[in-house]
Amino acid sequence: MNIVVIGTGYVGLVSGTCFSEMGNNVTCVDIDEAKINKLNKGIIPIYEPGLEAMVLKNVKNKNLHFTTNLNEGLTDAEIIFIAVGTPMGDDGSADLQYVLAVAKSIGEAIQKRIIIVDKSTVPVGTADKVKEVIQHELDNRDVSITFDVVSNPEFLKEGAAITDFMKPDRVVIGAESDYAIEKMKQLYAPFSMSHERFIVMDIRSAEMTKYAANAMLATKISFMNEIANICEKVGADANQVRIGIGSDSRIGYNFIYPGCGYGGSCFPKDVKALKKIASEYNYEAKLITSVEEVNDAQKLVIATKVIKRFGEDLTGKTFGIWGLAFKPGTDDMREAPAIYIVKELVKRGAKIKAYDPKAMKEAKGYYLKDLENISYVDSKYLALENADAMILLTEWKEFRSPDFDEIKKLLKAPVIFDGRNQYNIFNLAEKGIEYYQIGKK
Ligand SMILES: NC(=O)c1ccc[n+]([C@@H]2O[C@H](COP(=O)([O-])OP(=O)(O)OC[C@H]3O[C@@H](n4cnc5c(N)ncnc54)[C@H](O)[C@@H]3O)[C@@H](O)[C@H]2O)c1
Repeated sequence: MNIVVIGTGYVGLVSGTCFSEMGNNVTCVDIDEAKINKLNKGIIPIYEPGLEAMVLKNVKNKNLHFTTNLNEGLTDAEIIFIAVGTPMGDDGSADLQYVLAVAKSIGEAIQKRIIIVDKSTVPVGTADKVKEVIQHELDNRDVSITFDVVSNPEFLKEGAAITDFMKPDRVVIGAESDYAIEKMKQLYAPFSMSHERFIVMDIRSAEMTKYAANAMLATKISFMNEIANICEKVGADANQVRIGIGSDSRIGYNFIYPGCGYGGSCFPKDVKALKKIASEYNYEAKLITSVEEVNDAQKLVIATKVIKRFGEDLTGKTFGIWGLAFKPGTDDMREAPAIYIVKELVKRGAKIKAYDPKAMKEAKGYYLKDLENISYVDSKYLALENADAMILLTEWKEFRSPDFDEIKKLLKAPVIFDGRNQYNIFNLAEKGIEYYQIGKK
């Protein structure tokens, strides 16, 4: 099938590449010339395991193309995916300007029957808006072309995006016509060979499904973090409570790990957007509001523990940070707890030595760009040399089983703050390490 994917970010690049891997002919379009130039030179602008090899292979096979010109891929295209960003607007709603700009370009360019798929995360009712904008352009051109607008929200996780896309738990399709449903089934059939993963529903329900899924996951995280904070107060151990409740199959172990809060490009903005969607329909989403409030506070729990241990004024103190990305497996730092924690410590006079396997370029170039008193090092142990304490903020695999004797040797005094509860409290006590984690005094 001939496919155009508009927007070549995490979602667009991964989707386009995976569709091409299944033998489709895919054109990825982006307005960012620098990004397209890089891709055309074989440089992948984001880090995602397995992505580079798959892009290079399909470019070489000539079934994956990159361009800034929408018309290039359009001649034979049967399906166009919209995968541009829907960032948080000033009022917390999803900013639809990029989606609607793309809809306008589509309306200006299409020549024959086509299916337009909203893959971006968009508020309920967006498909109707996209349809209106395209129809308006067709009317301006005085042409009559049949088109379908379909909602196909994306559920991939950064850090495991290729695996998630190639083996999805489900493919949600919101569509009105049998023609569109059949085409989408055909496209996704190779991704669900072992069993049916295709869920067809009406468009508004598909749009809502994405927000509901992210809000549910964010709720589990904030719920567990709240339980962890209560555990700490009452003298219980959040790690043991986690295992105690996770063993109940109705609750499960996923997304109930105590930590320093969720970040990333999706949960924070989607939770906010869902709250806004509800308020536009005069519904106050109290639970969703609390999920967000608990998370905002949670991002600073580790900083509070550091302050309690070292005092309000951190002048003269140096902290070695392990992990900056919002989660392991990605270089993405959008809304990462590390941003808030590092800024809080620096504000109080501390010096930071940071190490992250993938996200240091992002930190230096953007998220912690103008921050003084932060330096970056090339290995986790270098970050600890002469530091007053180690602070772990992202649970990268390489941090799971470090050499604690080496850590003791490098730090001024053996103190570890763990924002992801990676270590066994008793083992560290035996080694004489002062260890602080989430949900435990
Ligand atoms: N990142 C994720 O893990 C994830 C997962 C599921 C869903 N989503 C959703 O998918 C959408 C895209 O997210 P992302 O993380 O890939 O975004 P991104 O910011 O990484 O990429 C968006 C891309 O769209 C391009 N773009 C903007 N306007 C354009 C236009 N008019 N024409 C062509 N290209 C244009 C930008 O230059 C950019 O490269 C969002 O709605 C997001 O909420 C993201």
